[in-house]
Amino acid sequence: MASLVINGGRRLSGSIVAQGSKNSALPILAATYLVNGKSVIHNCPRLSDVESTLKILENLGCRIERRGNDLVVDSTSAFGYEIPENLMREMRSSVIFLGAILGKTKKAVISTPGGCEIGLRPIDLHLFAMRKLGVEINEEHGRLECSIPKKLKGAKITLTFPSVGATENAILAASVAEGTTTIINAAREPEISDLCDFLNKCGAKISGAGESIIIIEGVKKLEATEHAVICDRIVASTYLFAGAVTGGDISVKNTVPAHLGAVLPVLEEAGCEISIRCSEIRLKAPTKLHRIDKLITQPYPGFPTDAQAPIMTLATIAEGTSVIVENIFESRFKHVPELLRMGAKIRTEGRVAVIDGVERLYGASVVSPDLRGGSALVLAGLCANGVTEVSEIKHIDRGYENFETNLCMINADIVRTEKDYGNRKEK
Ligand code: EPU
Repeated sequence: MASLVINGGRRLSGSIVAQGSKNSALPILAATYLVNGKSVIHNCPRLSDVESTLKILENLGCRIERRGNDLVVDSTSAFGYEIPENLMREMRSSVIFLGAILGKTKKAVISTPGGCEIGLRPIDLHLFAMRKLGVEINEEHGRLECSIPKKLKGAKITLTFPSVGATENAILAASVAEGTTTIINAAREPEISDLCDFLNKCGAKISGAGESIIIIEGVKKLEATEHAVICDRIVASTYLFAGAVTGGDISVKNTVPAHLGAVLPVLEEAGCEISIRCSEIRLKAPTKLHRIDKLITQPYPGFPTDAQAPIMTLATIAEGTSVIVENIFESRFKHVPELLRMGAKIRTEGRVAVIDGVERLYGASVVSPDLRGGSALVLAGLCANGVTEVSEIKHIDRGYENFETNLCMINADIVRTEKDYGNRKEK
């Protein structure tokens, strides 16, 4: 099993180019199934989650070609409507295929994705949105059989929580429904806007993306197009945190700084100097990090839950006591026991973590509990005294492209003990 061995205590300095966004790439790839023809998606990161998505597309009948970070998906003769359980289990977010499949084939069979490392993750809001659009769903023993007795019909969909995935599913199906759909309390994440930009280029009529109310006028047909995925704001944040915890001076290039609107003020609060020039964000760390007063994760534009674990590493070595509240997922503190092994002082009570900053962390053998928890441990290894071994890094490979290679380019000392990204060969 692969692990990352980190020789800590080195100051990071230099620049990194941020990768394309995983959470944009996945729904956009699902959308390529809905549109007719050959889509070309640029800036698709090489990640195991992207690979799992491609397996689903192939299973549905699409032809895939990878050219570097560009993917060509040809859905011309693809008419599958069932996702096998093993592929659903590989990646929980495969549920975003539901809207795309229903929009294309008018029926779908999937299994419920179930809980995962970070929480229960029910899909009630996804199913609510589909039912509103005229989908009939039979749920039995974890298998969902979906059909459309009449037509996909535009509707008013009021979400009780601005779920990212449910908003995406509703947008996908509503794009080709008859009439107008209004999504109220829609998720406002930049990845939603990226999906809508792609669909609008394909001929969809979606307005309001990035706001709480999205209006979709259904069209009869969507035609494939070319699209470049936006930069990954969570990966960009993680690299900035890496600079902060190592007393570094680093620049992350190719970002959309506005997408880090909730993250950058927290770094400044911690004493980092941030400067922005076009798409480049530069961070200069202070000699000693300051505590984070009270950080609460929230739907966008609030502080992202996906950056909660890596910023906790920063709090572990900051001066004073920091408080972090995880508001989105119920089990997203699994990195805490691992950070404790490295000398951190953290108490958790339900969704609240209280972190008393220590002078330094110490190298240890730790296990990556999930994707973002894994990146938090790598950051801990970077600033710790001695050697840290992070195992179960398959979680990290789900979301960070060339993580250790990029960090080594700016002076980190990390060795991967076994290399297998599970990526397809280029044709
Ligand atoms: N929820 C429900 N019912 C639903 C859907 C969601 O109760 O039908 C709950 C979830 O259990 C969770 C909360 O609502 O407690 C937020 O879930 P949401 O649907 O917004 O998240 P998601 O679509 O499952 C995406 C990202 C996550 C990211 C969240 C929140 C993708 C592929 N995944 O998940 O990314 O944390 O939005 O921003 O876009 C990650 O990249 O590490 C990651 C987990």
